[in-house]
Amino acid sequence: MIASAVPPVVPAGHLAERQQPVLTLSSGMELRPWRAGDVGTLMAAGQDPAIRQWNLLVVASPAEAAKRIERMHERWQNEQGAIWAIADPDGGEAVGLIGLSDIDLAGGSAEVVYWVLPAGRGRGVVVEATKRLSRWAFDDLGLHRLRLCHSMANPASCRVAAKAGFLVEGTMRSALLHEDGWHDQHLHALVQGDI
Ligand SMILES: CC(C)(COP(=O)(O)OP(=O)(O)OC[C@H]1O[C@@H](n2cnc3c(N)ncnc32)[C@H](O)[C@@H]1OP(=O)(O)O)[C@@H](O)C(=O)NCCC(=O)NCCS
Repeated sequence: MIASAVPPVVPAGHLAERQQPVLTLSSGMELRPWRAGDVGTLMAAGQDPAIRQWNLLVVASPAEAAKRIERMHERWQNEQGAIWAIADPDGGEAVGLIGLSDIDLAGGSAEVVYWVLPAGRGRGVVVEATKRLSRWAFDDLGLHRLRLCHSMANPASCRVAAKAGFLVEGTMRSALLHEDGWHDQHLHALVQGDI
């Protein structure tokens, strides 16, 4: 282990040693772990032009979708990611994805990622899910800072971030390569105590 002048914000093992919880939303929907049966949702997401454009998601086959779902569970165990399906309760089909990627337990930070299929859009579900996930990340996991980045050409995501309380901290120039070239990105963040 490499020594640091400050202790880890969240000790290693803190994520892997717990089961991924189901987080309920006041709208009645829930955030639950992805299941093998959610392959169809991932396939649909891979075919949606907006999700492909902004999340860079391509899903070539049901086998690849199944592999992606397995990898979500591996990333929880490796403490690298915590990814939920946004779904109706009682075994309902997933309509979207939300989670934390690039988790740095020692540094106390992670990045929020999300998408929703067209049928689930326009109902505020991602704003609600982002708020619920943020509460879990701060209160249950113990992280200190969450960042949320989106292309400057994606105003819907900017609005979601702002409505969930993530302040704009600046513009990262030429920060992410999309299919049509490099995009500037907005950096939003939420810090313990903001909510
Ligand atoms: C971005 C996304 C998650 C937002 O989910 P959504 O269900 O469409 O969001 P909502 O309908 O709750 O809208 C949230 C806010 O954004 C606004 N909004 C939606 N589309 C917009 C657009 N094209 N331009 C500006 N604002 C927009 C809504 O009006 C709403 O704000 P308001 O309540 O003040 O009116 C969803 O559209 C999506 O998955 N898009 C494709 C992939 C993507 O962009 N992923 C994010 C990568 S960073």
